[in-house]
Amino acid sequence: MSNIKCKRIAILTSGGDAPGMNAAIRAVVLAAHHYHIDVIGFYHGYNGLISAESINQAKLIELNDVSSIIHRGGTFLKSARCEQMLTEVGLKRAAQTLNEKNIDALIVVGGDGSFNGLLALKNYWQGQLIGIPGTIDNDLDGTDFTIGFATAVNTAIEAIDKIRDTADAFERIFIVELMGRHSGHITFNVGIACGAEQVLSFENFSSVAEQQSKLEILATEIKDAQQNRHSSYIIVIAENLWPGGAIEFAKKLTELTDIECTACVLGHIQRGGSPVPKDRLLATKMGVAAVQAIVAGENHIMIAEQNSATCCIALDQAVKHRKKVSQQLIDAQTNILALTAQNQY
Ligand code: F6P
Repeated sequence: MSNIKCKRIAILTSGGDAPGMNAAIRAVVLAAHHYHIDVIGFYHGYNGLISAESINQAKLIELNDVSSIIHRGGTFLKSARCEQMLTEVGLKRAAQTLNEKNIDALIVVGGDGSFNGLLALKNYWQGQLIGIPGTIDNDLDGTDFTIGFATAVNTAIEAIDKIRDTADAFERIFIVELMGRHSGHITFNVGIACGAEQVLSFENFSSVAEQQSKLEILATEIKDAQQNRHSSYIIVIAENLWPGGAIEFAKKLTELTDIECTACVLGHIQRGGSPVPKDRLLATKMGVAAVQAIVAGENHIMIAEQNSATCCIALDQAVKHRKKVSQQLIDAQTNILALTAQNQY
């Protein structure tokens, strides 16, 4: 006789989908099977626990259901943002559904908003609450990486490499907007990896004074790139950094330089596509670790990875938004690469 208390795990994916969410669901189902635990899939994020239509869709996930999903982007459980998780009525309904379905543990694959939902649910439901970090933004604390970040960076780099080809052909200036909500992990990693002449993000473009001096530098460099070096010039900019985003920023630079600056918003292309190996592996390790944590009796935690090893982080610590973009990356861009551009290497 097994002495594992948990018999039924519920799983849902919530918030912005991230490549690798399917791989995480698969790993949870396979690991749970090993421990003879059933996994019930709830559809459409937390709505799956609240709206009658979605509750009716909930079903036992069989091994067959996850047999060929490791390579697929998106999430077969669908995702959504759910305003009702901000209300007492919604939280009570979610708890009631979990009780009615005899769930012992709930795993949510998502980002900070989804984990705040888990923290709120803690006051209404007594079962085990476990988060798996799935967001392209990489903005959760206590984990080196989140599922989906590596793929999003890869996708954006491929897109910007293509933009570079046409930019070079026309000796043109491009302003490329990248996702990340309010953090610059994608912007810095992508900008540096594709040799962008400038990386503009919350970490290096915050105060009005900084913005003013940066605009002057940019205007001078853009003129130099076009008139003297006959080269392309790519600026990557974090979404939500400039009012009106890349489109308005491009207009501003066009005005300042009298040279056409073209905006390109990469947008949701960054969320799609087949997960790269790094995300498939991270999702698999985290999915297995989540089930092991449940078996070990853990509660109110997020599965994390630190120095290539999985571990558990208190959920309330994971959503504090303290994880900064690596200072080495910021320094590399500010001190070395930007200078290199000016010196025309
Ligand atoms: O959190 C993931 C993310 O893609 C952010 O980078 C972005 O700000 C946001 O979601 C976009 O959300 P939506 O798809 O709901 O517009």
